[in-house]
Amino acid sequence: MSELDFSPPTSEWYYPSDEIIQHAHVPDYEAVVREAEADFEAFWAKRAEQLEWYEKWHTVLDSSDAPFYKWFVGGKTNIALNALDRHVKTWRRNKVALIWEGEPGDHLSFTYWRLWQETNRFANILRGMGVKKGDRVMIYMGRIPEIVFAMLACAKIGAIHSVVYGGFSEQALADRIADAQAKVLVTADGAWLRGKTVNLKEIADVAIQRSPSIQSVIVVKRTGQEVYMESGRDFWYHDLINLPIASTVCETEVMDAEDPLFILYTSGTTGKPKGVVHTHGGYQVYTSTTLEWVFDIKDDDRWWCAADPGWITGHSYIVYAPLILGATSFMYEGAPTYPYPNRWWKMIEYYGITILYTAPTAIRGLMRFGDAWPERHDLSSLRLLGSVGEPINPEAWRWFYRVIGKEKCPIMDTWWQTETGGFVITPLPSVPLKPGSATRPFPGMSVDVVDEEGNSCPPGQDGYLVIKRPWPSMLRTVYGDPQRYIDQYWSRYAEQGWYFAGDSARKDEDGYIWVIGRVDDVIKVSGYRLGTAEVESGLVSHPAVAEAAVIGVPDELRGNVIYAYCILVQGYEGNEQLEQELKEHIRHEVGPIAVPAKIEFVQSLPKTRSGKIMRRVLKARALGLPEGDLSTLEG
Ligand code: PRX
Repeated sequence: MSELDFSPPTSEWYYPSDEIIQHAHVPDYEAVVREAEADFEAFWAKRAEQLEWYEKWHTVLDSSDAPFYKWFVGGKTNIALNALDRHVKTWRRNKVALIWEGEPGDHLSFTYWRLWQETNRFANILRGMGVKKGDRVMIYMGRIPEIVFAMLACAKIGAIHSVVYGGFSEQALADRIADAQAKVLVTADGAWLRGKTVNLKEIADVAIQRSPSIQSVIVVKRTGQEVYMESGRDFWYHDLINLPIASTVCETEVMDAEDPLFILYTSGTTGKPKGVVHTHGGYQVYTSTTLEWVFDIKDDDRWWCAADPGWITGHSYIVYAPLILGATSFMYEGAPTYPYPNRWWKMIEYYGITILYTAPTAIRGLMRFGDAWPERHDLSSLRLLGSVGEPINPEAWRWFYRVIGKEKCPIMDTWWQTETGGFVITPLPSVPLKPGSATRPFPGMSVDVVDEEGNSCPPGQDGYLVIKRPWPSMLRTVYGDPQRYIDQYWSRYAEQGWYFAGDSARKDEDGYIWVIGRVDDVIKVSGYRLGTAEVESGLVSHPAVAEAAVIGVPDELRGNVIYAYCILVQGYEGNEQLEQELKEHIRHEVGPIAVPAKIEFVQSLPKTRSGKIMRRVLKARALGLPEGDLSTLEG
């Protein structure tokens, strides 16, 4: 489960049934890989031809300014054209696009026609507020249908959305608004979580005070709690949709394939989060192809990606790809165990979900309640399962396979990143599986595990994960900081021109890839990506803390938890009360997911001669390993 005790069996095979293989869009993985390898640009061009374009591209891939690659150059499109506009002209207008259930039990569903209208209304409201092509709109809300409308509305008018996960704090939101220089913020009064309300608007208010770029705020009423509304700045969504400007017809902006669609902030090795930029053209091609082939989406499916729209998984596989494919998606607002640990299983039964895509941390969390909860429900509608976010430990994999999938649903363990936009290492339904391995690269992708010098590692040897050629949904840059894009992803193997993913991995004798974990200062807590620098700067912003270092320590349930080491300012005493205070401080500064499981007060921190904190020494100490035995530890 962790990078330390990672020794999964590499000879445990699970084979898909003939029925699964025959049903699949791609029954023969090897054949498609061969086709893609023969001419990968032609392969992607063929996929792009499945979609609608206002004008066709003249160049599939332009590498003249690498690593600033351009895809489908000269093409004119809009992802909303493919996700909505084209469907309402066909029988799909009456197909259900989105089914939504709120945590309190309320539910709604939207046909493509309704979703198109809701999006158009929202788009007209944004236009009415002066939002133009290229402007940034920040979105900070829970898992409610309006987040989908807001994202699609931005796309429709060519505005760039930047969604900040509703679990982030005031400061994290303010930092992202400042970096994006967003004009409008879309939020909600609150969100339901575990039977309680989260005060989203209250948090947003603090962030807005620190964000002079924000001119207007749209507030969706969800929980009905009392909120502060600033006259002239804050507007209720339900009032705005009654205004004459909020017509249900809205012209779609014609975009260049390479025009930005969204910025999504993610943690990196150093400093503040990076704004990963994705574009309209390549992203729509790659996300829709991967979803169609990996999860074998068909018209009669009910697809449930249980992520949050605030993360890349939600962007790509709740919002954009399923809609491009004309699929029916399900979205649930709240906690998996509320009010009882059978909530998910009950919804799968009720809605007849056919494909469930979730994260190892959620699987482990549900597994701990035992088999009786899922066994109370008819889960026979399921035909495929999926996992993402961190390595899945074989024990959780087998439980998911046996108890949820009844040994008939293959598990698609998909390795990818905010930066990749879509699945990179993943099985297709026809590929035999090994629990804990994301198997092999998606057709057209060139992935390898290499050593420091770039030599391909032999089976069984740990190395770095690299992607050796560009792909349509690759990030285009780091917003406002192209140098950081080069430094972070392209400098490690600059000579070869490979993308450095920041993960360690190994291949086995069958060519299957086993992702081990991050090799940089990124910690995955419950699948969420956090930078040590973010948590450390949160800690030192407290007056009692002079210096701080944080590490990730393996945890049964959450994959990793955070341990923090703090040197205090003279005069402060390290006691339990201060530990609590610091945890509360982090909750506000960064967000609840960043709260350390343990804070230790120390007199000094192990450092290199150049003054860099040696996190691996701290990690060895935390795990009770001899400090001399550091050879197996990542930095
Ligand atoms: O370390 C890898 C891990 O998650 C990182 C990317 O995190 P993020 O950008 O937040 O995107 C998560 C959802 C796509 C990767 O560098 N990771 C993601 N999926 C897997 C994984 N590790 C192992 N197996 C996976 N299936």
